[in-house]
Amino acid sequence: MSSSASEKYEISAIPAPVPDAHLNNYISIRLFALRTDPDSFSSSYAKETEFSLDQWRSRIDPSHRATFFATHSIGMENTRLACGEWAALLSTLSPDFFSSVNYKLPSTLSVSSLDNDFYVLVGLWVHPSHRRRGLARRLINASIDWVRKKVSSDGKTLLLVEVHRANEAAIDLYRKTGFESVGEDESQQSIWMSFPLNAASE
Ligand SMILES: CC(C)(COP(=O)(O)OP(=O)(O)OC[C@H]1O[C@@H](n2cnc3c(N)ncnc32)[C@H](O)[C@@H]1OP(=O)(O)O)[C@@H](O)C(=O)NCCC(=O)NCCS
Repeated sequence: MSSSASEKYEISAIPAPVPDAHLNNYISIRLFALRTDPDSFSSSYAKETEFSLDQWRSRIDPSHRATFFATHSIGMENTRLACGEWAALLSTLSPDFFSSVNYKLPSTLSVSSLDNDFYVLVGLWVHPSHRRRGLARRLINASIDWVRKKVSSDGKTLLLVEVHRANEAAIDLYRKTGFESVGEDESQQSIWMSFPLNAASE
């Protein structure tokens, strides 16, 4: 991919407090993603289309997560009607989020909730018209930078992602971004991958 193609896009984070325009864009792109790639997500269009505005607001509440999105500098004429103003989306859930819902990592992984705090990348999606232009890689790198700024190098904090075993594109993407497998969850047919937060930044 040429750098000029990549430079047409800007990566931003949803700010706090969340403006209504951001909330509307998030809802549009998320519902479109669930309809377009239902096998890539553990949730479903049928479930989320029933969400109230309060549920959507809590979904992007910046106190427990960062949500990065990509916009195209010359507009999204070809996709605006379908998914709003954004071309791509990625959220990173923080350790506070997992404590608040008492979530524990699967016991089959080589890393454990008992020994580690963990951030998890969720909901990565790039509009089909904007794929293979480096957007996913840029969103992941923005998330890695965000996590690195929040944690000291204590060796105890992890950045993880869960990917369906059949999603070869996403597995290849995460490998290329520096993630390594830390085990599988048979019940979800998924692979968990971890990014080496303590390695020196490139
Ligand atoms: C997977 C997905 C996020 C990739 O987004 P993208 O912006 O096209 O990815 P990038 O352009 O940043 O690609 C970076 C690398 O990922 C890998 N990759 C991306 N798409 C791929 C594909 N379709 N097949 C194989 N490898 C792929 C490649 O290694 C690529 O590097 P390269 O272009 O130098 O070969 C996108 O296809 C998508 O939204 N899929 C549906 C939703 C999904 O699967 N989300 C992940 C849930 S864990």
